[in-house]
Amino acid sequence: MVSFIKDEVIPNLHTGNWNDEIKERLDSFRRESVRQPVVYVGITTSSIVAGAINTREAIEQYLDDNAVDADLVCVGSHGLCSHEPIVEVQIPGKTRVAFGNVTPDRVSTLLDAAINGFVQPEQAMFQYYSDILEPWVGIPFMQDLPFFKNQKRILLKNAGVISPDSIVDYIALGGFRALATTLRKYTFDDVCRMVEESGLRGRGGGAYPTGTKWRNALQVATTERYLICNADESDPGGFMDRLLVESDPFRVVEGIVLSAYAIGANRAIVYIRNRYNLTVERIKNAIDQAYEVGLLGFDILGSGYSLDIEIRQGPGAYVCGEETALIKSIEGKRGMPSIKPPFPTEWGFNGKPTVINNVETLANIPDIILNGAEWYSSIGSQTSKGTKIFSVNGNAAQTCLVEVDFGKPLSTLLDLAGGVKEGREFKALHLGGPSGMSITKDELGYPIDFDELREKGITLGSGSVQVLDNTVCMVDLVKYFMHFIRNESCGKCIPCREGSNRMYQILDNISKRPVSNEGHTTLERFKGVIQLETLAEVMRDTSLCGLGQTASRPLLKALKSFRDEFEEHIFDRKCRASVCRDLRTFYIDVDKCTGCTACAKKCPTNAIFGTPRTPYFIVEERCIGCGICQETCKFSAVYFK
Ligand SMILES: Cc1cc2nc3c(=O)[nH]c(=O)nc-3n(C[C@H](O)[C@H](O)[C@H](O)COP(=O)(O)O)c2cc1C
Ligand code: SF4
Ligand code: SF4
Repeated sequence: MVSFIKDEVIPNLHTGNWNDEIKERLDSFRRESVRQPVVYVGITTSSIVAGAINTREAIEQYLDDNAVDADLVCVGSHGLCSHEPIVEVQIPGKTRVAFGNVTPDRVSTLLDAAINGFVQPEQAMFQYYSDILEPWVGIPFMQDLPFFKNQKRILLKNAGVISPDSIVDYIALGGFRALATTLRKYTFDDVCRMVEESGLRGRGGGAYPTGTKWRNALQVATTERYLICNADESDPGGFMDRLLVESDPFRVVEGIVLSAYAIGANRAIVYIRNRYNLTVERIKNAIDQAYEVGLLGFDILGSGYSLDIEIRQGPGAYVCGEETALIKSIEGKRGMPSIKPPFPTEWGFNGKPTVINNVETLANIPDIILNGAEWYSSIGSQTSKGTKIFSVNGNAAQTCLVEVDFGKPLSTLLDLAGGVKEGREFKALHLGGPSGMSITKDELGYPIDFDELREKGITLGSGSVQVLDNTVCMVDLVKYFMHFIRNESCGKCIPCREGSNRMYQILDNISKRPVSNEGHTTLERFKGVIQLETLAEVMRDTSLCGLGQTASRPLLKALKSFRDEFEEHIFDRKCRASVCRDLRTFYIDVDKCTGCTACAKKCPTNAIFGTPRTPYFIVEERCIGCGICQETCKFSAVYFK
């Protein structure tokens, strides 16, 4: 295979003008039509959690037991995480058909049906469209499902479709053509200019113009520059970069080579968390295969340009995603941010100009080169070009990974995730994790656009989105984020180190029952919130790095949009979502209570009184909201408000 790619495919990779024999061989990797059944199973971190490995084993067993001559191909994720494990089947003459939530016990029924050509419409999720193959009757086409129809899948177009383990599959679908063209036709400056003109902005959260960043590094007179792919993805809940790498790692590798070329770097580093095992495995395999066929290493495609890519695994600290801390971590030092300027483009890794780009930013480059800056800048809004990948989870009806073009309303993300779970009420959409903010129902109409959102005081973040419903307490949510920041602060500067700790204490205090009900306790709690606002501003204005500067965002926005919930916690000592356990007040339903005495015996503060065999009652002032009475009662007589 390596010699086929190296000797026969690569020489004409830039034009795609191969003879019929090579074309036919490449076509077989595109699997538009197949000669024998092919079973595809999506294996990514998210599907593994859903049991995809067991499903794959059941498929292997089925094929073995039934002596079926079929290929089993591992693919990435379509982004339909709640429907994983997803298995797809393609038989000769028929279109590829997809089944969701395929647990091992469903495997034999589904494969029996699909391989023999008798799929019931209700068994399948969707089928692929083809001009040349016979469709399945009654099964919707992929592009007609609202989930796919309402996305613009450029970066994710191969995700869930091709094998992330095979460079031939990627090349057969046009992969590495942008690189082959660039190395023949374009100078460093040309590529920089194209990316400048495309309007691409960084997807790692800062939205800095990518071409400008590259130009800054290219302008420094030196022979040693570095490109770093930031695959640290440290936002709790975010999984955009991970699933992109796991589904289409060769796209990311091609993006890295093109970007390194644009800044004249001969060494690139992928910085990734050590516990993202599968992600590391996939990107490592992609790099190794690119070396094998001569798309990496010395004198790539005889162009005179050489590039080595290595992987550095980070320890898994949030702050190490920040570019200056990341560089320190790669240098083997403690991952602590440093003051900017100098920016890494002037003084970065080993004191040399270094460009750090997010995985998704880099994944955009091959398409920009292939289709041109004008094509790219025609997608999206006035100042935010192209598409953005979002991972949506939380209390969404379905957890998913989606790609939408800039300019679409934020409500698109909620719609793609199917809204909130059944019976729940939408409360907010949280964008951007611990340095992001929750937007309300009224703000869902705002466009996904870096600048328009910024004008409204909202930051888009790097793409992690949580759907929040009425079971979420906003005080508890911001307390969670502040707890995260407090633990992840590197401690270098006082406002962040001490401020995050103090803010967490204040939030913790208002989410607990006060020690006494006296007026001055309430005043103290109220003063705490006033302090929160002041502290938040100090942290924002005086912290050294983005972690401290943005840490107060979730809180400040929640205070603005959900102030009544904070006031309820302080003045009424109530948590409307009943999440803050210590604020719950328990009651006994006199109609249900049998007077069995069990709860009174267990209550740690002796708050429950009564006469045996008649209804008991709880003295509110003594109740600490521990809930032991509710757990104890066998008659469901205890409830809380
Ligand atoms: C605390 C903190 C954590 C960050 N984590 C990440 C991360 O996990 N991935 C990422 O690409 N950028 C992260 N960033 C942003 C990077 O510092 C940097 O701006 C980004 O990688 C640049 O790439 P881009 O221009 O392509 O967006 C983080 C920033 C801060 C302040
Ligand atoms: S803001 Fe926080 S994380 Fe950043 S350098 Fe200061 S202490 Fe460290
Ligand atoms: S455990 Fe239930 S039934 Fe028994 S006294 Fe308590 S509330 Fe009444």
